Amino acid sequence: MNTVNTLLAAIQGTGRDERRGGYTRPVYSSAELDLREWFTAEAQQRGLGVEQDRNGILWAWWDMPDDGRPRVQARRGALVTGSHLDSVPGGGAFDGPLGVASALAAVDVLQTREKEGSLQRNRALAVAVFPEEEGSRFGVACLGSRLLAGAIEPARALSLRDAEGNTFADVARANGLNPDLMGRDEATLATIGDFVELHVEQGRGLNTKEFTDHAGRGPAVAVAGSILGHGRWRFSISGQGNHAGTTLMADRADPMVAAAQLVLAVRKTAAAKVDARATIGRLEPLPGGTNVIASSVDLWMDVRHPDDAVTAALVESIHGQSQKIAAMEGCTVRLTEESYSGTVHFDPALQRSLERSTARTVPRAPVLATGAGHDAGVLAASVPTGMLFVRNPSGISHSPEEYVEDDDAQLGVDALVDALQDLL
Ligand code: GLV
Ligand code: MN
Ligand code: MN
Repeated sequence: MNTVNTLLAAIQGTGRDERRGGYTRPVYSSAELDLREWFTAEAQQRGLGVEQDRNGILWAWWDMPDDGRPRVQARRGALVTGSHLDSVPGGGAFDGPLGVASALAAVDVLQTREKEGSLQRNRALAVAVFPEEEGSRFGVACLGSRLLAGAIEPARALSLRDAEGNTFADVARANGLNPDLMGRDEATLATIGDFVELHVEQGRGLNTKEFTDHAGRGPAVAVAGSILGHGRWRFSISGQGNHAGTTLMADRADPMVAAAQLVLAVRKTAAAKVDARATIGRLEPLPGGTNVIASSVDLWMDVRHPDDAVTAALVESIHGQSQKIAAMEGCTVRLTEESYSGTVHFDPALQRSLERSTARTVPRAPVLATGAGHDAGVLAASVPTGMLFVRNPSGISHSPEEYVEDDDAQLGVDALVDALQDLL
């Protein structure tokens, strides 16, 4: 087995979710902490110096040979690669870990090339692991990179709560971080000259007819062009909690009935707009009893579209409809924006460099727009970033069916190695 697949095989038992299938690895859970430990040990075996920054991001440094310069100076403008180790509930094996394992495998090749004299480095290289990329524990995706880049107010981040009611501040503190020090980190940002994230492709982008060969097989690797603008909103519908047996149908103010209509309205509104996606993936009735009419229902909505103005208009339209639906059911509704990331176009010079280097390994590697969010998208506002995608034959992600073939994973590493060598 090649190195990237051996690395992934070593963590295939960590955070398995027997009920949902796949993996549940929320940030700072025992599963995610085990993966951090695994990453740290693997990086140290390669002679990398592992540090955690004040926002909980892990950095594994392959420094330049000591030339007498202070380390902070020698690390300025470094090349950084990496991804995340947390997952959505019941997620696949590759979303995040593929990028981390590929980075470690790429370091192996680059270190060998340096020893053999076929690589001359002009800058340091680091592998970064970002916490809470999925936002599946505290609700805001890419929380680590947002804090680093100042794309979220630290006070807001620290007050976020998980499903058990723990604040991010408390959980961060329990994991050895000082909440008072969290937030935009100029010194760490200055160490990033370019950030290249390799990631499993999360849709059917590489499997479309445009790219597949006569056997229906798409190219193994793509270069990212852009990320769809996306955001999360929460509807709280309030009604009258009551008894399921004694409350006549005509006497109810049932927020669950309003929620059901809202789910349908969301689908209809998004389906009518080309390129729009809108999802209610999480719904929480309070108190949540079989013989209880809920007193309130929270619905989390994810909306995405390449044009930020269209996303805003979609949300406004859905909000208007939610007010009418709630009123019809004798309920009230409140809408809160939880997070928003505008459409990102990756750094053109870095994208061209990735296209050139990837062409050596994967001659037909296309440039793809993605509908999925990434730390590379958040960091793009502060530093040049780019991404490589590895073919996912199932076209499915955020599900146990997400898949990458061993040979494609190796081609992904080969492409990443070439990309990093060109940039080093
Ligand atoms: C993360 O994968 C997202 O796109 O929400
Ligand atoms: Mn991801
Ligand atoms: Mn994901």
